[in-house]
Amino acid sequence: MIKLDNVSKVYAGGTEAVKEVTLEIPKGELCILVGPSGCGKTTTLRMINRLISLSSGKIFLNERDINQMDPNELRRGIGYAIQEIGLFPHMTVEYNVAAVPRLLGWPREKWRSRVNELLELVGLTPPEEFGKRYPSELSGGQRQRVGVARCLGADPPVLLMDEPFGAIDPITRERLQDEFLRIQEEIQKTIVFVTHDLQEGLKLGDRIALMRDGYLIQEGKPAELLAKPKDDFVRNFVGTDRTLKALTLVRLREVLDDSPPTIEPEVTVSQALQKMEDQNVRFLPVVNGDGTFAGWVNRGGLRNLDGDKQVGEVLVRARKVGRRDMPVNEALSLMLESAIGNLAVVDRHDKFVGVLTFRRLYDIVQEHYLEEE
Ligand SMILES: Nc1ncnc2c1ncn2[C@@H]1O[C@H](COP(=O)(O)OP(=O)(O)O)[C@@H](O)[C@H]1O
Ligand SMILES: [Mg+2]
Repeated sequence: MIKLDNVSKVYAGGTEAVKEVTLEIPKGELCILVGPSGCGKTTTLRMINRLISLSSGKIFLNERDINQMDPNELRRGIGYAIQEIGLFPHMTVEYNVAAVPRLLGWPREKWRSRVNELLELVGLTPPEEFGKRYPSELSGGQRQRVGVARCLGADPPVLLMDEPFGAIDPITRERLQDEFLRIQEEIQKTIVFVTHDLQEGLKLGDRIALMRDGYLIQEGKPAELLAKPKDDFVRNFVGTDRTLKALTLVRLREVLDDSPPTIEPEVTVSQALQKMEDQNVRFLPVVNGDGTFAGWVNRGGLRNLDGDKQVGEVLVRARKVGRRDMPVNEALSLMLESAIGNLAVVDRHDKFVGVLTFRRLYDIVQEHYLEEE
């Protein structure tokens, strides 16, 4: 969809901002350009819609050389959003969002309904109310949403976004990121997204391209970047907590043990102890007849109890359980908070679907992230 072939940029003063960058972004993917300030991210991005000219190399959009295209035609097919948002202060939200559709001569009916649809999409509801406001009558987060709505205006297949959530407080920022992910799932645009925040990149990106001093240093899936940093620069950039960062990318459903030994609440304590011995485990999840999770029993806790008691009377209830779509870093946090250490995972109907144990977590990390010392 977008292809950069050996692209370089030397500014008039002689600054080599981008050096021989080759990068391909498949249709429907979100590619993150990340790297320290001044490494050439913005320059790279703005060469794609020809706001900045290339010094050498080629850029293709759907196999067409962008230098052979009419710049206006090119830009109509590309939504562009920037950190400072760039809303027109003298225009209402409605007219801001409708800027490109109106430029394209869409009839009033059509752009009006498009604006409502977009404001709805980015959560500025009711759209009739927000559409009439001016940018100065919105919070920073709301203005940013307008910026996103506007870059989607004429439904362009490609979006270029330059730190679009940069100037926002961390909480609003996370919410915007979550919503943006949800929107992207729906609209499936091809997106190049610049950020200097690796965490944001890891969360949003299908692919990450890490730049330094104008060079593209490493490119790949977020997990690859964390698992196999190519050199010391990448290793430092991703940080010594790269393993913990990687756990944010993995969901419980991908790693849980979905058929661990379990026990029913009607079983006696001595039967439970026997089962733990047979299975060579120290804990067992207790699962009710209807499949719901009841709690835990552990070997140490049962040993001193009356062996004829039922497990249901003595089990330890878990304060926290995991959900299948929970990121593993959150699961780890719950495991660390709980006295049990293991985490039971349940579905929407509280039915037991498996467990995550420290042992298993350790094995996963070892398998993917062990580096030769
Ligand atoms: N218009 C310009 N003229 C000259 N140098 C520029 C211009 N814009 C950016 N630069 C320089 O090019 C390099 C890359 O800048 P930029 O692409 O904005 O980096 P980033 O977006 O990664 O922070 C920097 O050294 C910057 O100072
Ligand atoms: Mg920049």
